[in-house]
Amino acid sequence: MEQNRALILLIILIFLFFPSFPGSDHNLDTNGTIAQERYQLEVLRNSKWESPGNLTGLLSGEKTPPEVVREKWRGIREDLVGHSSRGVVVYRNATGSVSGSWCKLSFPELPTIRLPNVTYPNNFSTINTGKVTVNVEDMTQGFSLGVGVVKVSLRLGDNDGGNAVDFAALGVHFERQGLIVATTTSERYSGFFAVPHFMLDEAEFIQSKQLLLPLIEKEVKKMEETHYMDAMWLPGAGGMPTSTKPQCEYIVYLQLHPAQVLQDGRYNHQLGLDNAGLLREIEREMRFPTGISLPPPPPMEIAAMIYSPNCGTVMLAEGLEGEKVEQFYTKASRFALAAAAVAGVQMWLLIRQMNESNTLTTICRVSFWTITMMAVVDGYLFFSFMIIALFLKACFLNMVAASFCYLMLSAVLGMRFMVTTYKVHRQWRQPTSAVSQAPTPATTDNLPAPATSGVSTPVIIPGNQDSPVVSDAEVDAELGALHTRFYFTLLAILFFTLNAATWPPFFRNIVLCIVFLVVNSQWVPQIYRNVMRGCRKAFQWEFVFGTSVCRLAGVFYIFLYPKNIFHAEPNPKAAALIIGLVWVQCVVLVCQDLFGPRFLLPSHLLPPVYDYHPPLPADDEEAAQNTGTAIGGGGGGGGRRSYDCVICMQSIEVPTAGSTDGRDGDGGSSVGLLGRRQYMVTPCRHVFHSHCLEGWMRFRLQCPICRNRLPAL
Ligand SMILES: *[C@@H]1O[C@H](CO)[C@@H](O)[C@H](O)[C@H]1NC(C)=O
Ligand SMILES: *[C@@H]1O[C@H](CO)[C@@H](O)[C@H](O)[C@H]1NC(C)=O
Ligand SMILES: *[C@@H]1O[C@H](CO)[C@@H](O)[C@H](O)[C@H]1NC(C)=O
Ligand SMILES: *[C@@H]1O[C@H](CO)[C@@H](O)[C@H](O)[C@H]1NC(C)=O
Ligand SMILES: *[C@@H]1O[C@H](CO)[C@@H](O)[C@H](O)[C@H]1NC(C)=O
Repeated sequence: MEQNRALILLIILIFLFFPSFPGSDHNLDTNGTIAQERYQLEVLRNSKWESPGNLTGLLSGEKTPPEVVREKWRGIREDLVGHSSRGVVVYRNATGSVSGSWCKLSFPELPTIRLPNVTYPNNFSTINTGKVTVNVEDMTQGFSLGVGVVKVSLRLGDNDGGNAVDFAALGVHFERQGLIVATTTSERYSGFFAVPHFMLDEAEFIQSKQLLLPLIEKEVKKMEETHYMDAMWLPGAGGMPTSTKPQCEYIVYLQLHPAQVLQDGRYNHQLGLDNAGLLREIEREMRFPTGISLPPPPPMEIAAMIYSPNCGTVMLAEGLEGEKVEQFYTKASRFALAAAAVAGVQMWLLIRQMNESNTLTTICRVSFWTITMMAVVDGYLFFSFMIIALFLKACFLNMVAASFCYLMLSAVLGMRFMVTTYKVHRQWRQPTSAVSQAPTPATTDNLPAPATSGVSTPVIIPGNQDSPVVSDAEVDAELGALHTRFYFTLLAILFFTLNAATWPPFFRNIVLCIVFLVVNSQWVPQIYRNVMRGCRKAFQWEFVFGTSVCRLAGVFYIFLYPKNIFHAEPNPKAAALIIGLVWVQCVVLVCQDLFGPRFLLPSHLLPPVYDYHPPLPADDEEAAQNTGTAIGGGGGGGGRRSYDCVICMQSIEVPTAGSTDGRDGDGGSSVGLLGRRQYMVTPCRHVFHSHCLEGWMRFRLQCPICRNRLPAL
């Protein structure tokens, strides 16, 4: 059984880390496809301005895009940067991400190439406005002759961000003009070869053709030599999405807005730079920080027009706003450091709690499931940070640091606490029959345990550290299973969330909310254990509140901070719900400590436990006699009785209940509830200070006087 689990785990891990093997089904027509690419390259080489020639998927007689669409884009650009785009001050490096909204433009006379069997993705043809996210990424290092190749990834969705279409377009970025023209490529549409023909004027055509010819030549040559289809424009290569179905193809025009640097005397004098110079300095400083003082970087703004030649739609997205990728990296690094700091605090709290819970009785109170939930969440965070580290090379160190902290927290500290708790609980698991034989505590009739059963009261704790109920080997085997179950759960949750990330946003949000609710209900098992076992104060308050706040920090960040790195929409309602849940749990824990673990609960529904704080009747002479420790003292009739606590050798004033007959009974008993917390009466009818006996019981579960066993708290 163990081996089987380990094997399955191994197989899952292998699939996790080698998700795809190079496809062999494409090999059949590799030669043909490469020859086709070579042919297309020659077509591009021989083509002239406004006569693209025989390129797959383009209208032969008609311009692509049609003149009306070009005219529209020309107008938009001129509004932004004016007639001459030479002197415009824009970010030179457009790597980054912007988002905003789009709307469909209608051109009645728009000619379309109806590719056969085009599937309109997600009902897209019926949506007229929505949200769009644009990611720009450099494919070439630096620019040659002022142009570079960029990949533009778009996500077009409806107004809720759902029904989204993702595609990646490859194209050309004009450095000085801040213009990007990109297009998708597929078997039926050789878009990338036609990019120069999508330009609006001949100069841009020549410039982009000069860039693309040697680049495509190099890629085609490589394919001819290796017979491996990995050119950057091919579907499935270099992060381009794979799709075998005919789809809408897109031509994407992007124009960076001119960026106005905040002209502030503070920064300007020392450099003596104008707007353009300052912007270049800012860009350089972002990429290669030296620590000089510069104005804050202006936001990156982009106007976009998306034209689909075969689906015949034109979409316009103006005023998209976002940030350059370096800013995102900075934020992500800070986030990772903050997460590491939070994990550090949690580690400190956990270590202190483990020091506190180092005796059998204290561990006995701790709920195993509370610790397990925390450890699973921390383990999940470890995996998440690890995965982010692999994808965000720029923040690798910080992410790894955070992930290491969570590894310590979960696999080292949390796991150890879990194992200790499990062992102790396993050995102390009581046969329930023995518990039910214990005399019912006095809560029902407001009297302490019948004095007649005093000396021989058989309140039995069968489990005992001296004679474990189960053998060590058995426990060890169970612990092994526990480990595998733990890591299986982690992997399952990981796969589930990776899957859930691709769901429609509505369901995704619900799942996110539920996950957060479950993750933050870590005190529920503890409350349950307190109730069932009649114990309280399993954790120190510092641990309860510290951990709660640390674990809520993520909720605060994701649900309340609008500029979070996950691009999650602020959701104050969900945040309030989660914070409220944690708050209620903490309050219940506090109340359990103050008023007893079973306050407000009908005791007849719960398994009986011994009540250490029974009300003592005023005429409990018998009890005093019986025990011999209690010295029947002072004003018995005045509602108080005095005993000696043999642990601290001080006397205890015990309020007694019997004399309060004349007064309001309810008021008396509720005052008594807190008063009764001051002393403890053992089943063998000895009276001690609460703190004295609790301190004693951390180490021994024996009555200090008569060595009778005591039920665990
Ligand atoms: C593809 O071309 C190579 C070299 O010209 C040749 O060795 C190989 O057999 C060809 N493959 C097919 C499937 O035609
Ligand atoms: C256009 O190219 C295709 C193959 O890409 C070829 O079959 C067709 O004959 C060509 N048409 C002309 C007019 O060259
Ligand atoms: C279009 O789809 C039909 C049925 O699915 C299929 O028979 C036909 O070959 C497809 N045409 C093309 C050009 O893929
Ligand atoms: C697509 O849109 C049509 C008309 O708006 C609607 O009837 C249909 O249910 C939609 N299909 C999907 C899968 O959303
Ligand atoms: C733009 O910035 C990114 C991130 O710093 C960098 O990877 C890329 O090479 C830069 N592109 C150019 C053309 O300098």
